[in-house]
Amino acid sequence: MNQRELFLRHLAQTSSAPLALEIIKAEGTLLYDSGGKQYLDLIGGISVCNTGHRHPKVVKAIKDQADQYLHLLVYGEFIQSPQVQYAQLLAENLPPLLNCVYFTNSGTEATEGAMKLAKRASGRTQIISFKSSYHGSTQGALSIMGDEYWRNAFRPLLPGILHAEFNAMSSLDFISASTACVVVETVI
Ligand SMILES: Cc1ncc(COP(=O)(O)O)c(C=O)c1O
Repeated sequence: MNQRELFLRHLAQTSSAPLALEIIKAEGTLLYDSGGKQYLDLIGGISVCNTGHRHPKVVKAIKDQADQYLHLLVYGEFIQSPQVQYAQLLAENLPPLLNCVYFTNSGTEATEGAMKLAKRASGRTQIISFKSSYHGSTQGALSIMGDEYWRNAFRPLLPGILHAEFNAMSSLDFISASTACVVVETVI
């Protein structure tokens, strides 16, 4: 079997019509497939869309780190210099009170982390999010997502979620003494 057949047989598909380009190299804004065809990448892997594919500084940093160590222990136990430096850089560019970073592997984990933090810190359980929002594919993120299309197959989801309307003053009435947080993703 060729790679395409193996892909269709052994990889879980996330859509009924996957793009299924067999990419063998990516550079800057370009993708190259196994047939030598070149594509201008207008979507971009989320992890590379701000630097382009294989930015030399990123490639060097990955290679340098691979020469030192990769995974060590569960999150937050060991002092790992690249992680510490990155957290410091983020803190320097955020308002003073946002001075502590919890790194995640994906957007949906960031959503889960935010929901858990809000509940734990406030002792409250209700979460308000917005209609038509997208927050990720795990159970908590699906629960606050404001689009039935994504979450319908996974009910029952988390209780205590209210979906407000964007740009409606009446949405403020949703906030009460039970509200742990309001989730809005302003930058993606
Ligand atoms: C607005 C928004 N929030 C959350 C996510 C979830 O991110 P991830 O796919 O990395 O879990 C996405 C992903 O597309 C997104 O567009």
